[in-house]
Amino acid sequence: MSIYTASTTAPVNIATLKYWGKRDKTLNLPTNSSISVTLAQEDLRTLTSVATSESFTEDQLWLNGQPESLQGERTQHCLQDLRNLRSRIEAQDSSLPRMSQWKLHIVSENNFPTAAGLASSAAGFAALVMAIAKLYQLPDSHSEISKIARKGSGSACRSLFGGYVAWEMGSEPDGSDSKAVEVAPQSHWPEMKAAILVVSADRKDTPSTSGMQHTVATSDLFQERIRNVVPKRFEEMKQAIQDRDFTRFAELTMRDSNSFHATCLDSFPPIFYMNDTSRKIVKLCHQINAFYDETIVAYTFDAGPNAVLYYLQENEAKLMAFVHHVFQKNSGWDTKFSQNDLEKFSEVFKT
Ligand code: DP6
Repeated sequence: MSIYTASTTAPVNIATLKYWGKRDKTLNLPTNSSISVTLAQEDLRTLTSVATSESFTEDQLWLNGQPESLQGERTQHCLQDLRNLRSRIEAQDSSLPRMSQWKLHIVSENNFPTAAGLASSAAGFAALVMAIAKLYQLPDSHSEISKIARKGSGSACRSLFGGYVAWEMGSEPDGSDSKAVEVAPQSHWPEMKAAILVVSADRKDTPSTSGMQHTVATSDLFQERIRNVVPKRFEEMKQAIQDRDFTRFAELTMRDSNSFHATCLDSFPPIFYMNDTSRKIVKLCHQINAFYDETIVAYTFDAGPNAVLYYLQENEAKLMAFVHHVFQKNSGWDTKFSQNDLEKFSEVFKT
């Protein structure tokens, strides 16, 4: 009996305008549109291989070498949608193998810590959905497939594209217009780089799904955010990307991270994702920008304490000199800096 296989990788994406809040839990429809930058495939990614055969007796998943359940409601939702699309094309072409009826074996591997606020669910569901779409040879566009990934994990829909991506919240009750679209390809602004400062690789305290539900239910500030802050910021950030305006992009990114974490603090009881080290990194970034009298770095934090820094390639040495100096790892980045400069850095940190 034949076995059919397909493999794909999906990269991690890090939101610069955060998705936080659902208006429909089952369809995973958000309360606001969001924007992200997809990281390079070589860096953080999930690799997923899928196989199907008439001889398989049950759906099975191995995640990082361990058997995992596929029974979760969201995963089942994704598998069902993909099988429905496959059965539609099988109905039109009787020569196609009846894969929609067969069981799947799925092997998935992350090259980074799972659930540590590094958007593992985004890459995970994106890779799962893309690998099966490839196996089933579905003709649908990435935006169409992103609607299925969205049901697995909201942020996953954005990992279907590289570069700069928007998840448009949509307004249809059935979610048919809540999908990811490309804002610009990576080649539009290839100088953009991301550095991840891993503050902790532990699993996060409050998972995103329950955290955002709690914020929607209890935070007053959240209402202000989704009504009056995010809609305007969504347009401004798309424009900053189109214009390759780093100063604008960076300010909007930092403000949005702060706004999202403020709604977490305003939840009752509050949710704490950032810790003391995270806050030091925020301060450091502002000090670096003040020191150079130019915006060279932007920080953003997801549902965990780890920082993602965005910067332009041309400023890498300027930024890393600071970061390594502060974290006491002088591994070559500071060679361009005089002792005098380093003393000035130290002065900055005393303020
Ligand atoms: C803070 O996509 O993990 O990273 O849809 O419930 O699976 P679910 O949530 P998830 O939430 C991501 C939240 C965030 C912000 C973002 O990526 O936009």
